[in-house]
Amino acid sequence: MMQKATKSTLKSKDYHDFQKYLENMCGIVLGDNKQYLVDSRLNKMLHEHKLASLGELLEKLNKDRNRELTNKVVEAMTTNETSWFRDIHPFNTLKDRIFPELAKNRRAPIRIWSAACSSGQEPYSISMTVNEFQASNPGMLNSDVQLVATDISPAILAAAEKGRYDDMAMARGLSPERKKKYFRETPNYWQINPIVKSRIQFKTMNLLQSYALLGRFDIIFCRNVLIYFSTESKREILEKMCRCLNPGGYLFLGGSESIAGITDKLDMVRTHGGVVYQLKP
Ligand SMILES: C[S@@+](CC[C@H](N)C(=O)[O-])C[C@H]1O[C@@H](n2cnc3c(N)ncnc32)[C@H](O)[C@@H]1O
Repeated sequence: MMQKATKSTLKSKDYHDFQKYLENMCGIVLGDNKQYLVDSRLNKMLHEHKLASLGELLEKLNKDRNRELTNKVVEAMTTNETSWFRDIHPFNTLKDRIFPELAKNRRAPIRIWSAACSSGQEPYSISMTVNEFQASNPGMLNSDVQLVATDISPAILAAAEKGRYDDMAMARGLSPERKKKYFRETPNYWQINPIVKSRIQFKTMNLLQSYALLGRFDIIFCRNVLIYFSTESKREILEKMCRCLNPGGYLFLGGSESIAGITDKLDMVRTHGGVVYQLKP
């Protein structure tokens, strides 16, 4: 049966201005035919703030420079879709290739960045992988492993830091063994294990801004976020990430993302049915 298209009530100038605003704020490029998405995601906020149109919202955002409202708009327009051990190959690659390589003669802490970590499943899956590597290779990864988990959204980051998950979130990608081993069940949620959590430092951070204060990393996970950005922003972000990778450091992107035509500073390495990028010498 043919679906009846719902006509958007957005004025095309307002929509065009909003596209520019969103890209400037967080890098997300909205296609020219996504009016329905803006309509549906911002409608409630317009009502709450007694604003009659997208144009009025933009005026308020530009005039008041209201951080809270800006965050709400960005949060409404971003996708937080995530799961435990997403795509599995990055975690197998850590365990079978990268940790054994980094563990050799290592004194300094191994540093890993989960950029755009959403509700925490990615950094917690990395931290569980550290536990499992240490358990199956006693004495091999003795140096400290430090994780930094960042996201543009303060609300999603606060949820990540709490480390509490409902049954629906728990059902996505966790084996019964891991659920039992790494979580404590309470009447309302599942709480992540404090040791898995203790390696992770959570920070609000926009990928369009400077990474100078983050330090250097051996491994960066930047998965399923660049897909929403323009080639120019992707290039800028990847160049900045390359500058904060240690020599020979690794970068994981999402399954549908690649560096083709964007940067030549990384080599592609195929592992476990997936791909990881390594900083060229
Ligand atoms: C689809 S989730 C990906 C989560 C996780 N990396 C994964 O692959 O499962 C994308 C995340 O990117 C965040 N994000 C979007 N734009 C961002 C930006 N400019 N800087 C930092 N994070 C951003 C969103 O808040 C969201 O949590």
